[in-house]
Amino acid sequence: MRDDAAYYIDGPVPETQAPSGEPKPWGKTDVVGSRRPRVDGYERVSGTAVYPSDVVLPGMLYGAILRCPHAHAQVRSVDATAAREMPGVVAVVTGDSPEGKDLHWAYGGMLTKLFDPHCRHEGEVVAAVAAETPYQARDALKTILVDYEVLPFVADERRALDPGAPKIHDGGNQVGETATYERGDVEKGFAEADFVVERSFRTECELHTPLELHGCVARWDGDQLTIWESTQGVYGVQRGVARVLGLPLAKVRVIGHYVGGGFGSKLQPSKHSVIAAVLAKQAARPVKLFISREETFLCVGNRPPANMTVKAGVTKDGKLTAIHFTGLGTGGAYPAGGTSLMDWLARDLYTCPNVKTETTDVYVNAGPARPMRAPGHPQGSWALEQVMDELAETIGICGLDLRLKNIPTVSQTRGGQPFTTTGLAECIHQGAKAFGWEEGYHRDPGDGPVRRGVGMAACLWIAGAGGPPATVLVKLFADGSVNLNMGASDIGTGTKSVMAMVVAEELGVDPDGIQIEHADTGTTQFATPSGGSKTIPTEAPTVRRAALAVKEQLFEMAAEQLEVDPGELVLEEGRVVSTRDRSKSLGVTEVQTLQRRGLIVGVGYRGDNPEGKVVNPFGAQFCEVEVDMRTGEVRLLRFVAAHDSGRVMNRLTFDNQVFGGVVMGIGLAATEMRILDRNATGKMVNANWHDYKIPTMLDVPPDMESVPFDRPDPEANPSGAKGLGEPATIPTAAAIANAVFHATGVRLTDTPINPMQMCRLLAERAKEA
Ligand code: MOS
Repeated sequence: MRDDAAYYIDGPVPETQAPSGEPKPWGKTDVVGSRRPRVDGYERVSGTAVYPSDVVLPGMLYGAILRCPHAHAQVRSVDATAAREMPGVVAVVTGDSPEGKDLHWAYGGMLTKLFDPHCRHEGEVVAAVAAETPYQARDALKTILVDYEVLPFVADERRALDPGAPKIHDGGNQVGETATYERGDVEKGFAEADFVVERSFRTECELHTPLELHGCVARWDGDQLTIWESTQGVYGVQRGVARVLGLPLAKVRVIGHYVGGGFGSKLQPSKHSVIAAVLAKQAARPVKLFISREETFLCVGNRPPANMTVKAGVTKDGKLTAIHFTGLGTGGAYPAGGTSLMDWLARDLYTCPNVKTETTDVYVNAGPARPMRAPGHPQGSWALEQVMDELAETIGICGLDLRLKNIPTVSQTRGGQPFTTTGLAECIHQGAKAFGWEEGYHRDPGDGPVRRGVGMAACLWIAGAGGPPATVLVKLFADGSVNLNMGASDIGTGTKSVMAMVVAEELGVDPDGIQIEHADTGTTQFATPSGGSKTIPTEAPTVRRAALAVKEQLFEMAAEQLEVDPGELVLEEGRVVSTRDRSKSLGVTEVQTLQRRGLIVGVGYRGDNPEGKVVNPFGAQFCEVEVDMRTGEVRLLRFVAAHDSGRVMNRLTFDNQVFGGVVMGIGLAATEMRILDRNATGKMVNANWHDYKIPTMLDVPPDMESVPFDRPDPEANPSGAKGLGEPATIPTAAAIANAVFHATGVRLTDTPINPMQMCRLLAERAKEA
């Protein structure tokens, strides 16, 4: 370990000035940082919370979408005559019908028809109906006659650029040019290295599969459209739907008070929302359109598969000299960031003067990718963090020490701008201590049938700074109670609870007593979609400013009445008190101007991020595994996750995010994969929750510990918090792979680490030995 470790663990919080015009960083906090249950916990568990899928309106119809059953096909004709005559059917839309023929849909910069006759993946929309019941709607779909010309397909991105591979778009199957990043000179770096390791890896495609399906209820009142949508961002859906239908934003209201999970798949608008609106218009009745579980596997995003080769060089005293990363990925049938950020950790996680990355994104006949919890990062981590372990092994030190020798203080890939705070070394030290790393690492796995090993991996997350724009209102009523109005969605992470705690910290009210309005374009303030692990660092400072704006006005009113200077007033347990003369005080309800006006409105805007600096969260995770050498079963025994996300806002929701992230990382490592029939049909063969294996309680370790490195980042923003939701899932899979190697000597280059693969690798290794 580094000998300055003690400083990092126990050293003082650096004295840093808040940027001018910003509120001062909090000193000791009373509410923020405590462990508090969700403010809407009762509503969520009792079923009284109305999720979009719970919305039922008078006269409501049910919509359903007919989807292309082929991986690649051209629609020659659609005949929906019989569907229009089916019992209960009220509205039908196809690519030829007046309602459907002029609708377009943009994938990135690529404009297609919304009902595009060129179906480039299984699950493309072909037609839709609305009927009195969901069953009548699905029955009607079966009567629609579609003449498909079935086309040859390519379902494997490793074959997409083969000569003769079926072309998915006119320009061929490569998305743009190969993206290249380069600093220094890798060839020179490899020449300077004492050891070089090169290895290829692959992570399989994962699906988000949130508990609540994707969907909405759409209703027209004259020319005003209202959509109740299960989404991570109501303003994004508003913009997307308005654009496709050619409506002013003011005519589209999107409400999403609750969302049953999204993980990135509900960051952006989907076709079903437009289709629901079109059907509702045609029927002149509200339409509920939630897609089925099977449909979610095909068309609302995935974490794309990644094929990666990492070549890295190191000196014998543990300094990285060069990293060369090459990647091949696919965003499916449309431009969707198939290689997005897979090389980021290779570029920025460790100090290394010579880095080159080359990533190639191709089209295949499969559903488009969407961001999924830390896009690209868990994939890149799987490759880089295993190579780090291998390098450490090669030079005879432990992987933890190699990482500590290469801790970055600046973002090398962003022109060497310093990080505001870099808690990476601290996370490694504190996590190792909580885990008992030294003991575990030096324990002999033995040669019995069941072997134990430990592994670790570290991470940073490219984002997590948050930033403008955001607007929030806080209202203080005459009786001292409070209303909080923000447009950001609480996607299940506890956003509402944390924001209530921020208001409570400033205004001294009970967080559970605050009325919270959120995620409704008609009534709440502008917010960008909740994603990128930016919701707390974006919204918490904004909420804090709004609460401070309330306090400032309250003090002005009270100062006038008390005939004191507003600057000497503080708020203590619901009373405005003069710090100069404590006999001068007023209860909030005794402030006459407030009583007369009825309420105070405080407006908060999100300020800018610090100039010339980078705000990123860091983390390190440690695990212990047990491998049964006879059956290939890997059992996870323990996990310690140490994360630097700046200030811990709510210890309970913080830990929840960490455990959730680890569990999703276990899914990537050990159980999850989309299986496409690459040879015969190109179709997904496990598009259901039975055959697509999400980790269950039996797959997660009984012993999971969250070790927050709870140091506020005073420069990041006036809450001191950085993002957490995504970093928590980045290093998990690699840590597991490293632990399996420690236990067995087997390197896992491909996910998932299931018994089938383990048995094969163990047999190969036994043969070699
Ligand atoms: Mo996240 S993948 O930005 O919801």
